[in-house]
Amino acid sequence: MSDKLRKSNGVEFAVADLGLAALGRDQIRLAEHEMPGLMATRREYAESQPLKGARIVGSLHMTVQTAVLIETLVALGAQVRWVSCNIFSTQDEAAAAVVVGEGTPEQPAGTPVFAWKGETLEEYWWCTDQVFRFPDGQLANMIVDDGGDATVLLHKGVEFEATGVVPSAGENDPEEYGILLRTLAASLAEDPKRFTRIAEQMRGVTEETTAGVNRLYRLAAEDKLLFPAINVNDSVTKSKFDNKYGIRHSLADGLNRATDVMIGGKLAVVCGYGDVGKGAADALRGQGARVVVTEVDPICALQAAMEGLEVVRLEDVVEKGDIFITTTGNFNIIMAEHMARMKHNAIVGNVGHFDNEIDMAGLAKVPGIRKREIKPQVHEWVFPDGHAILVLSEGRLMNLGNATGHPSFVMSNSFTNQVIAQIELFTNVRGYERQVYRLPKHLDEKVARLHLDAVGARLTTLTKEQAEYIGVDVAGPFKPDHYRY
Ligand code: NAI
Repeated sequence: MSDKLRKSNGVEFAVADLGLAALGRDQIRLAEHEMPGLMATRREYAESQPLKGARIVGSLHMTVQTAVLIETLVALGAQVRWVSCNIFSTQDEAAAAVVVGEGTPEQPAGTPVFAWKGETLEEYWWCTDQVFRFPDGQLANMIVDDGGDATVLLHKGVEFEATGVVPSAGENDPEEYGILLRTLAASLAEDPKRFTRIAEQMRGVTEETTAGVNRLYRLAAEDKLLFPAINVNDSVTKSKFDNKYGIRHSLADGLNRATDVMIGGKLAVVCGYGDVGKGAADALRGQGARVVVTEVDPICALQAAMEGLEVVRLEDVVEKGDIFITTTGNFNIIMAEHMARMKHNAIVGNVGHFDNEIDMAGLAKVPGIRKREIKPQVHEWVFPDGHAILVLSEGRLMNLGNATGHPSFVMSNSFTNQVIAQIELFTNVRGYERQVYRLPKHLDEKVARLHLDAVGARLTTLTKEQAEYIGVDVAGPFKPDHYRY
């Protein structure tokens, strides 16, 4: 993989084509206008440079919106290296623009990025290993993670260094893990205490998504978390916006770009009715699909019912559905035997973080099955009886693989939380234990406030008497922590 590694004008990178930088820069410029929270944060901290001295490892979809996040972290003083957290989610023009920065493709002057659309899994873990390699032996001291892969690599590396045994992948871990462990063994052969040294002075990780947050809470419960973490996902201005309204936009975008099939009138099956499932169901219903939902949680099932959605079991609709979307963050949701029973040309896509929601391994093993590429990230799987299904992005996040992920405005909310969380963990080292924290509510409200002007919203101000009557401060926070929105 080292033949992918380039260094030009002192900037290391491994991207598809630096010649795409101008294309990416135009999109970044337009995105900046749609990301008021992030840009306001950039202005607020431009002078004080709170991230000076931070060496940030970023593992998060390398999109245009992420480019604005990266350049904000750099504008606040940080040194940054970036990798995508999914093999299909990189926008190559955005990656190129970040590397080039204010330079030229011949003389790049930006930030190291190791990501391109359509990596193999080997390349993916090689890239993830590269982000930890700051030049001149400097050690990373912060992580921005999405799904937890950078954090997991570091934890597994430390475990390996302590025991000398390559830690085993859990039985239910995604396929990636075997390859991660091989990468680890190769990397550690060079320097047997590398990850331990990084972990020892790591100030913390800020985690973007539900799947990664689940991993962090598990590590903390087992007393294995090596540094403090901020759960960005559960800021209200993240999960109740990005997961829901972001998916409402990017799911439909992915379906359209992948298949251009008419969604209206189709029977769409949404597996999981959490934040992402709610957005997915909204998107499909908005296009005129008949939407049914599967759930294990009675509260979410009842919510779906109250929205007029039928709550079903997959077995009951597997032969009738036209579009199947998994949003559970769980595994083994749509199995090969389900797919074998689906209608001809039924579409199967996943927007949960990992690819094991759909049994791709089982599908590939169906005797006599044939896989035909319609175009990148759209595959027709033809069963021996001649009927076929369409699988998007090989079972990985199709809103990023088949489209370009969530739009800038909603990502501005998520990423403003990320920047605030990075500043908090980096500058307040003694304030945090090896636990998982959430940002305080006044910061969550601040993020929302930064986005109101852009949507023409005018807030009402509480009178002093009203504030006293409901027991809050005039300036907020306006709700107790247990309030659920
Ligand atoms: P959530 O926890 O709010 O929702 C998941 C829902 O799935 C829960 O209500 C749960 O009860 C249900 N569920 C679990 N097992 C099930 C099963 N066997 N059958 C039916 N339902 C089941 O989580 P959230 O925030 O909606 O995230 C879901 C996944 O999407 C996570 O992996 C997250 O990381 C990912 N995500 C993806 C994004 C994207 O851009 N594609 C954006 C944000 C999150």
